[in-house]
Amino acid sequence: MVLPHSMPLVPLPLSASVGGGRMPVGDATTVSGEASAVEQLIDAVALRAGVRLLPTTDASADILLRIDPGAAALEGYRLTVDETVEVVGGDDAGLFYGVQTLLQLLRQDDDGWGVLRGEIFDAPRFARRGVMLDVARHFFGVDEVKKFIDHISALKFNHLHLHLSDDQGWRIRIDSWPKLTDVASSTAAGGAPGGFYTKDDYREIVAHAARRHMIVIPEIDLPGHTHAIGVAYPELVEAPVLNDSLIAESERLGQDLPVAGEPYLGWGVGHSSVRIHEERTYGFVRDVVRELAEMTPGPYIHIGGDESLGTPQADFDHFVERATAIVFEEGKIPVAWHEVGAAAGIAEGTIGQYWGKATPEGTHAAEAAHFVERGGALIMSAADRTYLDMKYTADFPLGLAWAALIDVRSAYEWEPTEVLDVPDAAILGIEAPLWSETTATIGEVEQLVFPRAAAQAEVAWSPREAPGRAWESFRERLGRLAPLWKAGGVDFHAADEIPWSER
Ligand code: ACM
Repeated sequence: MVLPHSMPLVPLPLSASVGGGRMPVGDATTVSGEASAVEQLIDAVALRAGVRLLPTTDASADILLRIDPGAAALEGYRLTVDETVEVVGGDDAGLFYGVQTLLQLLRQDDDGWGVLRGEIFDAPRFARRGVMLDVARHFFGVDEVKKFIDHISALKFNHLHLHLSDDQGWRIRIDSWPKLTDVASSTAAGGAPGGFYTKDDYREIVAHAARRHMIVIPEIDLPGHTHAIGVAYPELVEAPVLNDSLIAESERLGQDLPVAGEPYLGWGVGHSSVRIHEERTYGFVRDVVRELAEMTPGPYIHIGGDESLGTPQADFDHFVERATAIVFEEGKIPVAWHEVGAAAGIAEGTIGQYWGKATPEGTHAAEAAHFVERGGALIMSAADRTYLDMKYTADFPLGLAWAALIDVRSAYEWEPTEVLDVPDAAILGIEAPLWSETTATIGEVEQLVFPRAAAQAEVAWSPREAPGRAWESFRERLGRLAPLWKAGGVDFHAADEIPWSER
């Protein structure tokens, strides 16, 4: 038996034994089983290898894809490659992940294409494995988001958090407040063109994600990060509050300061706030949450709550207590950035998203722990490890550096249960956010996301104690993803920490 880490797999599976040799794959190779998995495999193999597998209804096909709840855990699978291939998912998602593993085992050598032989038994460590895409600072269209979903889900991520509103623009149609998109969606950071999703666009993204077993979490950032709301509806938002660091940073970057009612194109934070003491603000929040809930099959609505420096603390507490309650009243579970945990009376069961450092600073840990005290749980997004918008190195042309420089090794080497003093069971999993202040194109997004998202995929999926769950093994296995990303048109950053392979 050879150890699992000698297989070219990211994330590392729960257990694996390598059989030696390959099962050849070519145009005569047949595949049968669950229809959607068969179709996805045929399309992916065509893209990767230029080989068209033959679909058949014959149970003795060369590749059999099936589901058996007794064979593996939820989201888990068993994959056997010998003279034939069998992938057995514990459920639909498990079969999908087994197919992603099969695609990583599909390799080209001098004899052509083949699948490496072996047996894999796999299931995730954390049920929640997420990536966030900020479509507010720069907007990315439906096809770009769908492609992003394809490459993220191939790493076995199962949640996509869309940051749909910020100071620079509003990105989702809300029928009861039409000026949000009619007036406040056409702008973006640095004067880039904006954009927004119609309800049909959003549903198309949600459906595409669902086919790849990803849940979409929509975020409307409140009560701060709301300047764009005031461009559409001035009566909902206070005048900008200019703090010293905003003024200094704007000057350094040559960005104009925010002006009430005019589009804001810089990326300073902490200057905007909705009006806390006006009842119509809560009517607005309820309308937005209700319309989002109607088109979101997943259980969560994210209400933001970060960096509300322009909102006095007592007002902030009052607002987030009401906003978290409204989300439950509209039938969804609220998710919020960890600052929301400062409010004593957040709705019970609210999920917190911790974005402080891996070694917590100031009040961050206490704020995060309060979600758990209120019967909620936590998603870990330690900014100096998981933030995909941080630069790899000081001279990297894209990204910011306020949390840390994050090379691939630093992204990989952290442990989500060791950051906060809460029970392990309170940690639902992790999320890696991509903030888009500096990324104007999806190719630039990909430069920051890949390969570091693969590091977070392994932190989220693979057992902590598995042989090979360590940097030296990871960097070798990660290097073997290069040909898959190239075939899929992913503009990944070929970081020189990694021995990238040709095939
Ligand atoms: C954040 O990075 N402001 C959540």
